[in-house]
Amino acid sequence: MDSRLARFSESISFDHRLYKQDIRGSIAHARMLCRQRLLEAAEFEAIQRELLDIEGVLDRGEMPFKIEMEDIHMHIEQTLIDRLGDVGRKLHTARSRNDQVSTDIRLWVRENLDRVDSLLLGLQKAFLSRCSKDAGVIVPAYTHMQRAQPVLAAHYWLAYMEKLERDRGRLADCRKRVNVSPLGGAAVAGTSLPIDRHYSAELLGFEGVAANSIDISSDRDFAVESVFVLTMISEHLSGWAEEWILWSTTEFGFIKLPHTFCTGSSIMPQKVNPDTLELTRGKSARVIGNLQTLLVLIKGLPLAYNRDLQEDKPPLFDSFDTVIACLELAIPIVEQTELLPEAISAKLDQGYLDATALMEGLISRGMPQRTAHHKVGALVAIAKSRQVPLLKLTDAEIKSVDESLDGSIRETLGVAGAIQSYSSYGSSNPTRVAEQIKTWSDRLG
Ligand code: ARG
Repeated sequence: MDSRLARFSESISFDHRLYKQDIRGSIAHARMLCRQRLLEAAEFEAIQRELLDIEGVLDRGEMPFKIEMEDIHMHIEQTLIDRLGDVGRKLHTARSRNDQVSTDIRLWVRENLDRVDSLLLGLQKAFLSRCSKDAGVIVPAYTHMQRAQPVLAAHYWLAYMEKLERDRGRLADCRKRVNVSPLGGAAVAGTSLPIDRHYSAELLGFEGVAANSIDISSDRDFAVESVFVLTMISEHLSGWAEEWILWSTTEFGFIKLPHTFCTGSSIMPQKVNPDTLELTRGKSARVIGNLQTLLVLIKGLPLAYNRDLQEDKPPLFDSFDTVIACLELAIPIVEQTELLPEAISAKLDQGYLDATALMEGLISRGMPQRTAHHKVGALVAIAKSRQVPLLKLTDAEIKSVDESLDGSIRETLGVAGAIQSYSSYGSSNPTRVAEQIKTWSDRLG
């Protein structure tokens, strides 16, 4: 082989990460071969013993990698052959690297999906613990980044819980399709040898056995789908990071981020920069890009295995690494950030956040919605011109927009009044929110 091709085509530099899965897959395959009398018991024992020893060598980083040997699968098998001679040469019976690679990636993805899921759970628990810590705190909710309506801070945190729960649901669903055994699909057509694919699948904890050997050798749907799930998580983290960056600015002053997760400026001593959040926002770009890479990679590939598929691993690994790193940092940030209720409430009376509650108060007195909207708009205009909150309007001013109105409309005014006035399912009403917190506590355990 031309040395340029060796350099061009190697994958050992990245697929060495699959060594544990490769060894596990090989032992299961060998055990199946033995049960099917394609290997002697003593041969299987020797293969298993040496593979476990090779795993130790790899654990200690003592295996020299050679690009001429292309990938981790060849490195492990060749080491086995060096040790066992012809017995080692039997391991690859009724197997090809095509189903072997797919098996290894699926095992790796399955394990890492579980890791992501436990981190998502950790992040949900962090948001849930905030709900009791921030009980009773009211914050402005925004639409179009304009102050819209007052809500409980806990209701805000629960919004993230929902997003994370959908992420976990997608992950669990995707895991079902990941957890199907390709092993024994061989190169493309299956094999004439009497293998038992169900047995090796069972040994590896797969829930099913992929049914079509041609499909097996070409399928990377599970990789694309996993990265999509990770992309959605990244999108959620990125939006959260952006929000907390804003909330931590002097302009907002809603939260104080833990200093251990921020950096200072070398030249401006007063600065505390939200680097972790900025990088979380920034790193979502890599994950989104990786999804694109995988989609384009498989586009137009004819059946079945094509060497293009070797290129799936860098974007796949990078997506998991990135999302795992972001989640590992998001958890302590959510736990340790301080909400600053005094600073928030000082600003809460600005922006007429109770206008919608007032409008709904008028509607419940029988006024048509469009009319009520118009009347409250007029009241806001008066209040704005005097630079006072709605609560400070005089009886005469209230009457001036509509003869039928009087001072009693003040009941729903003020942010606390507005919060109490919500009642619908899913709203920021304190009782509703308390119910949701209870449901989440029960669910998360
Ligand atoms: N390094 C390759 C990969 O990761 C191994 C599969 C090679 N299969 C083959 N038939 N050449 O995809």
